Amino acid sequence: MNKEKLIIFDTTLRDGEQSPGASMTKDEKIRIAKALEIMKVDIIEAGFPIASNGDFESVRAISGIIKDSTVCALARAKEIDIMRAGDAIKPANSGRIHTFLATSSIHMQHKLRMTPDQVVEAAVNAIKVARRYTNNIEFSPEDAGRSDPDFLCRIIEAVIAEGATTINIPDTVGYNMPHQFGALIKDLIERIPNSDKAIFSVHCHNDLGLAVSNSLQAVLNGARQVECTINGLGERAGNASLEEIVMAIRTRQDVFPCDTTLDATQIMTCSKLVSGITGFNVQPNKAIVGANAFAHESGIHQDGILKARETYEIMRAQDVGWTTNKLVLGKHSGRNAFKSRMTELNIEFGSDDDLNEMFVRFKTLADKKHDIFDEDLQSLVSEPLLDSETETIKLISLHVCSETNSSPNASITLTINGEEQTSEAIGDGPVDACFKAIEKLTKTGIALQLYSVNAITTGTDSQGEVTVRVEKDGQIVNGQGADTDIIIASAKSYINALNKVINRTGKTHPQLGTV
Ligand code: KIV
Ligand code: ZN
Repeated sequence: MNKEKLIIFDTTLRDGEQSPGASMTKDEKIRIAKALEIMKVDIIEAGFPIASNGDFESVRAISGIIKDSTVCALARAKEIDIMRAGDAIKPANSGRIHTFLATSSIHMQHKLRMTPDQVVEAAVNAIKVARRYTNNIEFSPEDAGRSDPDFLCRIIEAVIAEGATTINIPDTVGYNMPHQFGALIKDLIERIPNSDKAIFSVHCHNDLGLAVSNSLQAVLNGARQVECTINGLGERAGNASLEEIVMAIRTRQDVFPCDTTLDATQIMTCSKLVSGITGFNVQPNKAIVGANAFAHESGIHQDGILKARETYEIMRAQDVGWTTNKLVLGKHSGRNAFKSRMTELNIEFGSDDDLNEMFVRFKTLADKKHDIFDEDLQSLVSEPLLDSETETIKLISLHVCSETNSSPNASITLTINGEEQTSEAIGDGPVDACFKAIEKLTKTGIALQLYSVNAITTGTDSQGEVTVRVEKDGQIVNGQGADTDIIIASAKSYINALNKVINRTGKTHPQLGTV
């Protein structure tokens, strides 16, 4: 690559996980981290280790597993946070600490209750502490998009002098307009005397739908790292979407002075993995990864495409990993064929026992469903393994009766902490009856906030993938389940959510804390 490199910093596992309901287990985060590494993401922000023991363990595990990407941990500008982040990235081949402190007067006055001098001192001190662990240090002046540029120049010069190697400019609340944000980046790079000692990065939120535009303007004005997430997941309206940033840069090389080294053919795999795990479905008209992104409905467009693809397409679907539904395996496929197709899909098994269990799931599915597609194979791993520590409640059997002119009735058998229990319930519909029967046994008192069902492939024999979002004492979690029977898929998703509620510990939110 002759052009300058644009560093892709993925924060799906950190800012993405801050989307209400998008919390992920350690195993899920590891699967996403591995997929990001295969896609050649430069930096993976794996979490916020001070938030909870679970977050610390996830970042530490990812640091031990990921070899090619840098693993980054977030920390407030507090010694205790930075020490925890430093310990979490210790096993990494290449680790980074990302520390941040708010610089807008609104945040300094109301949230931090600190003077600008105190903020500069705390930021410089944070870099000093981080240097005990690594030389790869990123500093973010939180809410930079609404901060005084003169103050930004002052604090950034001070942290670079102390050893910060990346300066990330966040538009934390998605307030900036593209021309303003681009001008801010240019201004900072030009005015800060030691700006050449650091890489300038941007981190844009999408509150006004401008996260990608703002990030691209920043790149045109000198930023050489972009922070983004798969499917644009993230706090509130989300972050800049990785796939849109990468494909805009790649498709418009005539405009941009830099390029990424990302393997874009892995984009669809990552997109599906993240939407499957979080239950955040991708809207059909979403750029690059939406189901309609490469579909042509009007006759004129179809005619044009058939004559010359370039008439209506600026990218090739296969370049971002779209494949047509391919019949891959069937009932008679053996263990080796199954394993090798799973390997081609970048799905690995921790042990022979895990492989055996997945193979049993595959055979069970193949008995019910004649044609098995890649999407079906991917859905097999979206449910946790049966011996996983996350499964307190397990589904043993379900019987649902639904007929015209009578209320549906569900009878369910679960094991709860290893003990088998059965209950029955009547509901307004079969799913309602099923959830009521589960609630009778588990008595969790959770509130259902969202229920959605999607067909994984085409055809009436497709598996249904159900996502539920439940709330308990202010905690929101998602659950997923897939089956050719959508009532069974619904029960699985509800049980998956219950297990997450039971196993979750309290977390600190990064932007709530003060110094
Ligand atoms: O949006 C934000 O400001 C952040 C910082 C922690 C970088 O997520
Ligand atoms: Zn953010």
